[in-house]
Amino acid sequence: MNKESIKINPQIIFTNGQLNGPDVIHKKKYLSQLNGLFEDAAAFKEMAGDQIAYEVDAWCPVTEGTEGGLFFGLTHLYPGTVGDEYFMTHGHFHEMENRAEYYWGIEGEGMLVLMDKEGNTRGETMFPGSLHYIPGFTAHRVANIGNGILRFGACWPSDAGHNYETINTEGFSKRVKKIDNKALLV
Ligand code: F6R
Ligand code: ZN
Repeated sequence: MNKESIKINPQIIFTNGQLNGPDVIHKKKYLSQLNGLFEDAAAFKEMAGDQIAYEVDAWCPVTEGTEGGLFFGLTHLYPGTVGDEYFMTHGHFHEMENRAEYYWGIEGEGMLVLMDKEGNTRGETMFPGSLHYIPGFTAHRVANIGNGILRFGACWPSDAGHNYETINTEGFSKRVKKIDNKALLV
């Protein structure tokens, strides 16, 4: 085997749940970028918008939009609340609506919020080792319901794309809130 045929693959660091490697993209999502998504606008305004809500490490080995390929990502969602609502990811439908996805819990406690096209919303609890199948036509968002960081993995088709707009305008029909120190989907 010659040198050119040996490739350096990304590496999952099991001690801190990060993904490293020359082709890995690192994205930061600031709280300010989630403007309009939390119910308590006054509480949101009081918070430092420059704090990081979550980070994503992604490996996209084929060009975005390629049919038949797969992407891989690790999300690190910080703990906290805006009013009584837990920190959460933006959430999206896939642009190619029928595309499914896997999520799995790595560290911490979470709630995966799933909403179908009719606006029916349900929750699945995430914990280290929990595995979640997100069917097509289903919006998905994750809330961190624990006191520490929540880390989860994701694997999705490279032609899925992301539709954030519908969530910006219509939101999810239920929210994950801290009520009497318990996480409830209300
Ligand atoms: C990919 C996917 C995840 C999310 C990530 C951040 O289809 O679902 O990798 O992209 O957890 O969440 P969003 O994209 O909703 O900001
Ligand atoms: Zn997705």
